[in-house]
Amino acid sequence: MAATVLDGREMSREIENGLKVRVANLLDLGVTPCLAVVIVGDDPASHVYVRAKERACARLGIRSVRIDVPSDVEFEEVVRTVRKLNSDPDVNGILVQSPLPEGMDEIKITDLIDPKKDVDGFHAQNLGRLVQGDTSGLLPCTPAGVMHMLESADVDLTGKRAVVIGRSRIVGMPQSILLSQKGVDATVTIAHSRTADMATLCREADVIIAAVGISNMVTRDWVKPGSIVIDVGVNRVNDDSEKGYHLTGDVHPEVGEVAGALSPVPGGVGPMTIAMLMSNTVRATEMQQ
Ligand code: GUN
Repeated sequence: MAATVLDGREMSREIENGLKVRVANLLDLGVTPCLAVVIVGDDPASHVYVRAKERACARLGIRSVRIDVPSDVEFEEVVRTVRKLNSDPDVNGILVQSPLPEGMDEIKITDLIDPKKDVDGFHAQNLGRLVQGDTSGLLPCTPAGVMHMLESADVDLTGKRAVVIGRSRIVGMPQSILLSQKGVDATVTIAHSRTADMATLCREADVIIAAVGISNMVTRDWVKPGSIVIDVGVNRVNDDSEKGYHLTGDVHPEVGEVAGALSPVPGGVGPMTIAMLMSNTVRATEMQQ
């Protein structure tokens, strides 16, 4: 039987509808939420993501400010840009798009952002709270989006075996914490490039979260029939099309023939990540009042 499709577009529309009400309440108080996005350099994928974030802001009545910085900029200039946004009372959320140019320290930049405006949830203070079991603050957007997706699909994770493939600061690590937190209670394994026999690990899993950035890595024979598979990957694969590339996930589409549920790429985790960014921006604005 074919897997249930976990439609991130539909789920994110519902989240956005809830956010519109909260934005209207803020507007009544004379406050327009504002998200500032800093983009350094000309990574084409980053520009696509940032445009999608701007469109989401426009849909919700959130003001968006975009600061384009050339790739050869001095580190100190990025520092000054972030500090200026920190002290601007009209800016409620700050995001520095990743990846930064080679050699620019992302963690240093992230930790300069005022934690109250850290809508990516990557600041040490916000990640630290998460490790302490406090999920009431600004959570990293992609992992939070995945959790919403599992909730919307009514997946009970208690005692279930979850494998997170990838140990990144942005997705894999915070994802593993959210899945294992009290009240969610999955038993989590983090798999990575040094993991032995990943296929066997995955075959034992009830839930697989693939966040590794390798096109179609998770194949049908890695997946136990009926398990839930969430595909976080967005991989550009060059082809002869007009665009010159197409997008693939980390999960081979044939997994849909065995999984109980599967999130598509595109239209799965991507829209949920943006919805969570909008949610963090609204929440940050509310907390700042
Ligand atoms: N690049 C890819 N995903 C993200 C994200 O969630 N936040 C930021 N800042 N950069 C990204």
